[in-house]
Amino acid sequence: MFKPRFSAHQIVFALLFAVSIVFSANLQTANSNPQLHHVPSADCGSCHTEIYKQWAGSMHGNSTALKDPIHGALYKSLMGSPTEEGVKSKKGKYPICLQCHAPNAARDGKTKLDAMPAYSEGVNCVACHTMKKYLGSRANSRLGSKAFEFSNSAIQGPAGSYSGSQQVKVPGSNGVEMVNPFPHEARSNLFRSSDLCLGCHESRKNGKGVPVCSTGPEVMQSGNTVTCQSCHMPLSNGFADHSMSGGHNPEMVKRGVIFNLAVDGNRAVVNVKNTLAHNLPTGAPFRNMVVKLIAYNGSGKVIWSNFKKSAFKEDKKSVMMLFLVGKDGKPVPPPKATNIGKDTRLKPGESRDFVYNIPVKGVAKVRAELFYDLLPPPIKKKLAKKIPANLLKPALIAIAETNI
Ligand code: HEC
Ligand code: HEC
Ligand code: HEC
Ligand code: HEC
Ligand code: HEC
Repeated sequence: MFKPRFSAHQIVFALLFAVSIVFSANLQTANSNPQLHHVPSADCGSCHTEIYKQWAGSMHGNSTALKDPIHGALYKSLMGSPTEEGVKSKKGKYPICLQCHAPNAARDGKTKLDAMPAYSEGVNCVACHTMKKYLGSRANSRLGSKAFEFSNSAIQGPAGSYSGSQQVKVPGSNGVEMVNPFPHEARSNLFRSSDLCLGCHESRKNGKGVPVCSTGPEVMQSGNTVTCQSCHMPLSNGFADHSMSGGHNPEMVKRGVIFNLAVDGNRAVVNVKNTLAHNLPTGAPFRNMVVKLIAYNGSGKVIWSNFKKSAFKEDKKSVMMLFLVGKDGKPVPPPKATNIGKDTRLKPGESRDFVYNIPVKGVAKVRAELFYDLLPPPIKKKLAKKIPANLLKPALIAIAETNI
């Protein structure tokens, strides 16, 4: 017959002991790491596995000079090493880049980003989920982490699924029930509002006072009231998607354009429509799009195109970009710009015709292509050896063809 090896008392004691270990483990993390903005994303990811994966593949999860090769190359040349303490700008100030690209380090005034995961992870879970109130980011002196008031006692969230400050029990990855060690507070007015994004995405001027990024004002001027989240954090599997795609993901860029081609005789009209609440392309001033038009003869051979190698040199009107210039009006990299040159990006809702008169005979097919590029040719040339080849390749966003 089955004989119990432990008495009921012993079992109760063992259970209490196990529970106390779970609780003391939680208390230990809380005590040895009292700062909420030092919690690594993996700690949140142990329960929020799907969101963790989405975030880890996003540019937020790769926003520091240690992980983003393009930002890294510029940061190193403008500021210095991301693995040293006490790095300063040429004017002797704390590197402003970190306010947005490594906000947890910025809150501590640190520059050695490999000192802890919460620094090297850049825009991580707690960088956003400790934000309590938006103070406004207009002035250049209040960017990124300086644009917010933070909570150091509770995780902030939208309060869709979890409100109040009670702790919840959830099944841990090993099947044992765990207690969420982080109390939560509801801030739906911040987390469901564009304000949460604008602290870092509103606009930024370079050291010479020239606005280099203006996603916030673009949306405001368009009079559009949809939130950033409605496009950038759609619901997937019942919760807000944290992949937060943009220019690094051609599939996202595709969602922003309608592309058409109409040919009448030798006249070809390519129409590009921006369906977004901000410019296309928006964001970093390097981003650019180019229309390519190709004419084929009956045997499928290319007999004409609007450019062969470089749209920038051969057909500038096909380029959509914010051109930043120096005193002499010539294009310069963003940190050196003293003026805005031409801004040929598509405004919110804008529909633009690119009109071509194809100057050859015997055209049997016309094909239009739309490309998106993270960087323009001069900067590509400069960074060619410092960044991976895939970041230098234009992405094909749309195609339209007509047989004559
Ligand atoms: C032990 C498991 C566990 C851990 C660890 C954990 N959470 Fe949660 N969290 C939950 C549960 C359970 C909910 C309730 C909603 C649900 O079922 O997904 C929740 C809800 C949330 C919400 C939504 C709150 C709202 O207002 O709707 C946010 C935001 C959140 N967690 C962020 C975090 C962050 C950031 C971390 C890391 C600092 C973290 N969580 C760590 C279990 C956990
Ligand atoms: C703490 C600052 C901060 C906040 C808050 C923030 N972002 Fe970002 N975001 C960044 C930084 C920095 C990058 C650039 C990372 C890089 O490319 O190195 C970025 C990149 C992006 C990108 C571009 C991805 C790509 O493919 O290049 C999108 C889209 C984006 N953020 C959307 C949002 C949205 C939507 C919100 C609000 C829900 C938001 N961000 C809140 C700092 C922030
Ligand atoms: C760039 C800022 C940002 C980062 C980084 C970020 N979140 Fe969020 N998170 C948000 C916003 C904004 C919402 C609310 C979205 C909404 O409701 O439309 C949200 C919602 C959530 C929710 C509630 C989801 C739902 O729909 O119920 C959870 C849970 C959560 N985040 C966990 C995390 C975890 C875990 C990480 C890190 C792996 C993380 N977040 C990183 C901004 C961020
Ligand atoms: C109507 C949908 C929609 C809304 C609303 C929207 N976006 Fe976008 N966003 C897109 C699409 C699609 C792209 C890709 C095309 C592009 O780069 O313009 C994009 C691109 C971006 C990028 C990438 C830029 C880069 O350099 O890679 C950033 C940053 C961004 N959006 C931020 C925001 C912010 C901040 C808001 C709110 C103020 C916002 N977006 C509102 C759809 C939207
Ligand atoms: C106000 C917040 C903010 C500050 C300050 C800031 N950035 Fe950014 N940066 C962003 C955001 C947001 C993006 C990505 C979305 C976009 O294109 O607007 C970005 C994108 C970039 C990119 C493009 C990265 C890529 O992967 O293509 C580079 C390079 C960059 N920043 C360099 C810098 C440098 C260098 C500094 C400091 C001199 C700096 N940034 C300061 C917010 C900021």
